[in-house]
Amino acid sequence: MAIPDKSSIVIFGASGDLTYRKLIPALYHLYENGQLPESFAILGVSRTEYSDESYREKLRKSLTEMEQTKPDVLERFMSHLHYQAINTSDTDDYQKLAVRLAELKDKYGFVHNNHLFYLATPPSLYSVIPASLGAHGLNSEEDGWKRLIVEKPFGYDLQSARELDIKIHQHFQEHQIYRIDHYLGKETVQNLLVFRFSNTMFEPLWNRNYIQYVEITGAEFLGVEERGGYYDGSGAVRDMFQNHLLQVLALVAIESPPRINADAIRDEVVKVMRSLKPLDENDLKNNLVLGQYTESDVRGDFLPSYRDENGVADDSRTETFIGLKAFINNSRWNGVPFYVRTGKRLPTRVTEVVIHFNPTPHPVFGQDAPANKLVIRIQPDEGIQMSFGLKQPGAGFHSKEVKMNFHYKNLQEAQMLTAYERLLLDALKGDATLFARSDAVEACWEYVQPILDYKNDPQALFGYACGTWGPKEAHDLLAADGRQWRFPCKNLTDTDYCEL
Ligand code: BG6
Repeated sequence: MAIPDKSSIVIFGASGDLTYRKLIPALYHLYENGQLPESFAILGVSRTEYSDESYREKLRKSLTEMEQTKPDVLERFMSHLHYQAINTSDTDDYQKLAVRLAELKDKYGFVHNNHLFYLATPPSLYSVIPASLGAHGLNSEEDGWKRLIVEKPFGYDLQSARELDIKIHQHFQEHQIYRIDHYLGKETVQNLLVFRFSNTMFEPLWNRNYIQYVEITGAEFLGVEERGGYYDGSGAVRDMFQNHLLQVLALVAIESPPRINADAIRDEVVKVMRSLKPLDENDLKNNLVLGQYTESDVRGDFLPSYRDENGVADDSRTETFIGLKAFINNSRWNGVPFYVRTGKRLPTRVTEVVIHFNPTPHPVFGQDAPANKLVIRIQPDEGIQMSFGLKQPGAGFHSKEVKMNFHYKNLQEAQMLTAYERLLLDALKGDATLFARSDAVEACWEYVQPILDYKNDPQALFGYACGTWGPKEAHDLLAADGRQWRFPCKNLTDTDYCEL
C-alpha cells in the first residue's frame, strides 16, 4: 500500500467540532495503522490562543474519551501535532502561518513544501482562506504540492456556489481542490461501482427494461442536536439531498467508466447529474414532499418539535424531510422513477438503495408473485439482500419470496476505513476520485434550485411526528403509483416494517 508523501496537514477550524470528532480521530487511526508517512506535521489553526502543549492536551482528552487509543501510539501521534493562532479573516496574519510552516519544514526535514489545507471552518471563510493563502504564496506548487479540502456546504444555492467556485479558482486550480462529500468515503457507497460493473448477473438488467423503480433512503433518528443554528439556515435539501443523496443516486445510475480514475468516474457522474429531468411546476406540486418534525413520544421518550430545538426560529419553515420522485432523461433510465427521501427524527438511522425489478412478463404463478428486489444497505449493518421467488413447498405451484443476505461484518479480513480516514488518505495521495468535481457540484445545485425557490411557498411544508416515516404526503407519493416505501430496520434482515 502506497504511503503518502511527507507533508504538513493544516487544519483551519482547529478548535471546532469537526476537527475533534472526525479529523483528528481519522488521522490518529491512519497513524496507528502505519498509513501516514513517518515524517508529517499536523498544524491546527484558528483564532483561539493555544500553545502546542495546551492544544495537544485538549485533543488527547477528546481522543481518549471518544476513541480506542494505545497510550504509546497516542503519545507519538501527539508529538506531530502543533498549533498556530491567527486571525483567519485577516490576510496579513497569514504571515505567521507561512513562518510556522517554514519552521516545521526544518524541524521535520521535509525536502518539499507539500501542504494539505483542510477548511473545517464556517463557509463564510471558504473564499477568504484561499485568497489569503494565495497572498502569501502558499498556493504555489513550485516547491511541492498544495491541496485544499473544502467541507460542505459548497455554496448555499446555485449562484453562491458558482461565485465561490470562481473565487477559489482565482487562487487554486481545479486539480488542487478537493470538495469533500463524506458519503463518497463510505466503503458501501464505493461498492456500488464494483457491484454494478463487476457482475454479469446484474449489469445487463440494470436499466429501464428490467427495473421498475428505485428507492433511495437516508434516514436519521437523531434530530438537529446542537446544530439548530446552522441547520435552520440550511434544511434537508442543502444538508443531505443536494450532496450525499444525489451522489448515491449518481453511482446507482452511471454508465460504466472506461477506467477507474478520478476523471473517468467523475465524467460519468456529471453526465447523470446533468441528465436529471429538470423539476417543473408539476414536479414541485406533485412529486415533491417537504416536511418538518413535530413533537412526539417515541419509545417512552418525549422528543420536542423542530421549532423547539435550540437555535431554531419559533416560526421556522425549514424542512427536516424531503421526499422526491426524480427521473433521469437518458436511454438507460427514461421513465424509471427514483424515489428519494431523507429526514431527521425518522424511526431509525438507515441508508439504503432498493432496486425493484419488473415482474416476469407472463405471471404464470399469479399476479401476486413477488418481483425481484435488491437492497443495497449503505449503513448500518452494511450488506446486500436479494429477494427472489421460490416454490412454496407443498401442493400446487405457488411462488414465495425468500431472501439471500450478505453482511460486510462477515468479511473477516476487511479493514473498513471510516469515510474521513479514506478521504484524508486519498487527498494526501492526490487521488481525487472520491471528491466532488466543480461541474458536478454545479449540476446538483442547478437541479435543486427550483426546490429552494419553492420552499417558501406556504403550501410546501407538511408536519410529521418524530419517530414516523415522514409526512403522510410522502406515502401518498408512492401510493399514487400503486407502491409503498420500504420501512427498513436497523438490521438488514429484520422484517420489512420497522416498528417503533
Ligand atoms: C452531514 C449532515 O453531512 O451528514 C448531517 O450535515 C447528517 O446533518 C450527516 O447527520 C449524516 O451522515 P452519516 O454519515 O451519519 O449518515
